[in-house]
Amino acid sequence: MTFRLLAIETSCDETAAAVLEDGRHILSNVVSSQADLHAPWGGVVPELAARHHLENLAPVTEAALREAGLGLAEIDAIAVTAGPGLVGSLLAGVQFAKGLAFAAGKPLVPVHHIAGHLEAPFLAAPDGVLLPALALCVSGGHTSLFEMPERGVYRLIGRTRDDAAGEAYDKVAKLLGLGYPGGPVIDRLARGADDRAVDFTPARIKDPRRANDFSFSGLKTAVLYHVRREGIAPVAPGETPSKTIADLVASFQRAVVQSLVGKMVAAAETLRPKSLLLTGGVAANSRLRADAAAAAARLGLPLFVPPIALSTDNAAMIAAAGTLAFDRGVRATWDLEAHPQLPLV
Ligand code: KG4
Ligand code: ZN
Repeated sequence: MTFRLLAIETSCDETAAAVLEDGRHILSNVVSSQADLHAPWGGVVPELAARHHLENLAPVTEAALREAGLGLAEIDAIAVTAGPGLVGSLLAGVQFAKGLAFAAGKPLVPVHHIAGHLEAPFLAAPDGVLLPALALCVSGGHTSLFEMPERGVYRLIGRTRDDAAGEAYDKVAKLLGLGYPGGPVIDRLARGADDRAVDFTPARIKDPRRANDFSFSGLKTAVLYHVRREGIAPVAPGETPSKTIADLVASFQRAVVQSLVGKMVAAAETLRPKSLLLTGGVAANSRLRADAAAAAARLGLPLFVPPIALSTDNAAMIAAAGTLAFDRGVRATWDLEAHPQLPLV
C-alpha cells in the first residue's frame, strides 16, 4: 500500500512543504525563499522570518498538495521540523502542522532538521547508499561529521566549535558587501579567481581527542584583519566586485573547503566507511563538491551528494526523515513545541 507523507519545514528563512510517497518518490517539493527579504540586513532577521512563514505556510502547503495532485484526505501523515532553528520560525511551522493534522485527523511526526539533511542523500540515490557511511553535514547553522552505521542512526563524531561553515560564508559576504546569502555569491565569484592570493590556512585543533572538530571563526577574523590591513572597501550596490575581492573570497573558500574535506578524509581513513555523504546548504558549493569527489575517488569510496534543491533547506528531506520516524512509531502529541536547541539522538 502506498504511504504518502506531507512535510512542513520552517526552521530558518525558507517556507517549505513537500509530499513524499513511500519514503522515496518526491511528488512535490515547494520552497518559498525569503532571501530577498533579508538581503538588505546581510542575514536573517528572526521576527521578519517568523511573520513571513505565517503568511506563506498555507499557500506553500496548498501548492505542494496541488503539485502532488492530492487532497489532504489522501495524505497518511504529516511531519514537521520541530528543531533546531529559530524559535519563531519553528513555532510558525509547528503550530500550522498541528492545526492541519488535528483538523484532518492525521498523525503528526516531529522531525529533527539535521536528520532531514542526513536523509537527503538517500532520496537522491535510488539504488541505495552503502552503509556504514560517513556523513558531512554543512549548513548555515551546523557543520558536523556523523557516522551512520545503519539507516536512521546518526552518531556525531565531530562538530564546529564556533561558527558553522555557511555562517562564515555569510559573514565574509556581509563584510565585503556581497549580499545574503553569501555562499552562492562567493561560490560564483571564486570561479577562475586566484585561490592562493591570500595565504589563509585551515584551523588546527590541537586537542587530539577533538581531531574531528571544525573551527571557522579564526578564518573569519583573518579575513577581517586582511580587509582592514589592505584597506579593501566593500562592494557598493550595483558595482562589480574587483579582482582583489574575487581572489580574497577564493582564498577564503579554499581554506574552508580544505578544512571540510581534510577532516572528512581523516575520519574516513580511521573509520573505514563504505561510502561518504555530503549534505546541507553548503554542499551546494561547486568547489566543495569537486574537491570531495576527488577525495572520495582517491579513497576509493562512492560519494553521495544530493542535487542542490535537496541540499539547501527543503521539505522533501524532512519528509524522508519523517517517513523513517513514522515507521518507527514516532508520533507527536498535541502539546508539541518548537525546540530551538533540539539535540539529534
Ligand atoms: O542548509 P541550509 O539551506 O540552511 C540551514 O540549515 O542553515 O544552509 C544555508 C547555508 C547559508 O549559509 C548559505 O550561504 C550556504 O548554505 N550556501 C552555500 C552555497 N549555497 C548555500 N555555501 C557555499 N556555497 C554555496 N553554493
Ligand atoms: Zn538546513
